[in-house]
Amino acid sequence: MTTQLSVDLGARSYPIVVGVGLLSDSARFSPFIAGRQVCIVTNETIAPLYLDALRRTLSNYQIDACVLPDGEEHKTLTTYSRVMDHLMAQRHNRSTTLIALGGGVIGDITGFVAATYQRGVALIQVPTTLLALVDSSVGGKTAVNHPHGKNMIGAFYQPRLVVADLDTLRSLPAREYLAGIAEIIKYGVIRDVKFFNWLETNVESLLRRDPVALDHAVLTSCAIKAEIVAGDEREDGARAILNFGHTFGHAIETLTRYEYLHGESVAIGMVMAADLSMRIDLLSGFDGRRIKALIAAFGLPVAPPGNITTAAMRASMGMDKKVIDGRLRLVLTRSLGDALVTDRFEPPALEATLAAHGRLCED
Ligand code: NAD
Ligand code: GLY
Repeated sequence: MTTQLSVDLGARSYPIVVGVGLLSDSARFSPFIAGRQVCIVTNETIAPLYLDALRRTLSNYQIDACVLPDGEEHKTLTTYSRVMDHLMAQRHNRSTTLIALGGGVIGDITGFVAATYQRGVALIQVPTTLLALVDSSVGGKTAVNHPHGKNMIGAFYQPRLVVADLDTLRSLPAREYLAGIAEIIKYGVIRDVKFFNWLETNVESLLRRDPVALDHAVLTSCAIKAEIVAGDEREDGARAILNFGHTFGHAIETLTRYEYLHGESVAIGMVMAADLSMRIDLLSGFDGRRIKALIAAFGLPVAPPGNITTAAMRASMGMDKKVIDGRLRLVLTRSLGDALVTDRFEPPALEATLAAHGRLCED
């Protein structure tokens, strides 16, 4: 079954199509392709799996592909320039359409290129990881990393269409699949207690990638994200709750030099954010323990690696984009389904959370 959701942003509204067999459905794509030229941006892992299929589907267009090296370490300005060089060499004009075929790394790089090539060209997101299906392909955040910080160079730039083909998840390695589950859990915690309850009772079906359970999890996640983005496209306020667990998580990602995946780092970050929420009596111990238990039930990590010091965590969290006027703001949760952004926590409470997780060495 195919379901269509919408991200409602006035003239820039766009559909998210969720289903199976979508990569071979040319009618899904054609209305959103700007002109004759199409460039598919993908990577060396995904190209052998899905590039030919998508090329065949779009064979009526003048199509070429830019195949990038795989990995978060390539989410850089160097790779961005490489895609720009490709577009120039292939003489892509302003009516070209870029298709991001891949996970969040490909989606974020391609989105940033689309935002800036000739001051902006059409973009279609075709996510192929669970994380990209439920999060990064929706909402228009695009970026590359700077050596001193993740996603530090980027733009808000919405796609014209998101095609989420659940068939692509069949080839996704287990570790990557679980990283996507972390973002799915996030939606339950920040916005929808019923969904959180549903996740608690569907751990086993999601672990075996049951299509019905997966369809429900992806659709619910995308619907929550679409609603939050529609209400606050550029993260002036409420959208920030989508970053639950991310301030701690980004620090872990950076400090482990991306050895911990984004979703894994967010999983640990959510446990730490829940811990802090409990310490300042915002969240009940019962609900806090449920968050940690659900993350652990999926086999996701719940503590940072032991070689990260509290000093390193503190310094890395200080680089986060959510620091305003020197005060760290964090997404915490009042109860399941009710997150908020706040700077109302005493530094000792945060220190206690940092000290309580893993074998954090003395400074
Ligand atoms: P990823 O893009 O690195 O993909 C993970 C791995 O899976 C890669 O090796 C990739 O080649 C491989 N892969 C992708 N699809 C596959 C498939 N169908 N079968 C087999 N292998 C496949 O990682 P990710 O978790 O998708 O994305 C993480 C990135 O997304 C981070 O850079 C993060 O900052 C970003 N992100 C962005 C947003 C946003 O709103 N823009 C939100 C969340 C995360
Ligand atoms: N992933 C956070 C956001 O899209 O705002």
